[in-house]
Amino acid sequence: MKPRSSTARAASNIALVKYWGKADPAANLPATGSLSVTLSGMVTTTRVVFGNGRGDDKLELNGVDATETATARVSRLLGRIRNMAGISDRAVVKSENSFPTAAGLASSASGFAALTRAAVPAAGLTADLDELARIACSGSGSAPRSLLGGFVELVPAAPGEAAGCTVRQLAPPGRWDLHLVVAVCSGGSKQVSSTEGMEHSRRTSTFYQAWLDRHGRDLDEARVAVDERDLERLGRAAESSCFRMHAVALGANPPLLYWSPATLAVIHRVWALRSTGPRGWITIDAGPNVVVLCEARDAAVLADEIGEVPGVERTLVERPGSGAEVIA
Ligand code: DP6
Repeated sequence: MKPRSSTARAASNIALVKYWGKADPAANLPATGSLSVTLSGMVTTTRVVFGNGRGDDKLELNGVDATETATARVSRLLGRIRNMAGISDRAVVKSENSFPTAAGLASSASGFAALTRAAVPAAGLTADLDELARIACSGSGSAPRSLLGGFVELVPAAPGEAAGCTVRQLAPPGRWDLHLVVAVCSGGSKQVSSTEGMEHSRRTSTFYQAWLDRHGRDLDEARVAVDERDLERLGRAAESSCFRMHAVALGANPPLLYWSPATLAVIHRVWALRSTGPRGWITIDAGPNVVVLCEARDAAVLADEIGEVPGVERTLVERPGSGAEVIA
């Protein structure tokens, strides 16, 4: 076929109620729902070109050839799109992050959302949101959430349904100017990816079943909190989900500890500040960095306070941003 290209951008998202464990690892089907906020500043831009004959796909990340493992993961998702389109051409994919990959902020969510959004039209297809979510989910369980802006809930397919998930926007980015201060923390131990960490937790953690049992309550709370723009209520649900997720990881065999001393120091600083203000609530993904939710008026002071914690390399201030879009 004549080469056909498309470019899309998608921002990273941070889960306030986490996804941690798959019901079906082969289909990459999350075991639970999740609720996130799509960020404004941490953006991946991806260009996909189909139509250079047959052969292996090529993936370039930030101007450098990607590893075989990363390329294989992208190829799996592209293979699904090729099947849908009835084409067999190889793809050349170039992806750039607007944020430092080395700081542990790289996100499979923005990457697979941008890839899905670009590859579908590049293959000559159109797809509705449900279809896009199913495709993005096969790449990464957090990616469908980045298809939409603002506050987003992901609902996984029920057993027996076709694998995948649906996403819906709970509130657009302009409805609540919640701020998120990201503390980039040094000294993380050798990183275990989310994919590996959650599978290890599912197989071996004493607390995995308790995590599944409790999860719905955090989701219910967070949904209401977003609806009412109640920061304290959302913050409590987010901390509950975050610390339970890390408890599940710590309860695995061998245990998984994602935090560094700086992570713990930020937690203590934010909790100590909360009684006097500025008030912030914590969430942490599968790494040492800490994200602090706060009101817009408190973001600058919190960023200064957190920036002084030993081991914090830098802080970034984020706010709710838009969903993925095709730009060329
Ligand atoms: C801790 O979406 O990266 O960030 O589906 O295996 O790609 P895969 O996992 P991934 O896991 C995200 C885990 C998390 C929580 C979350 O974003 O919900």
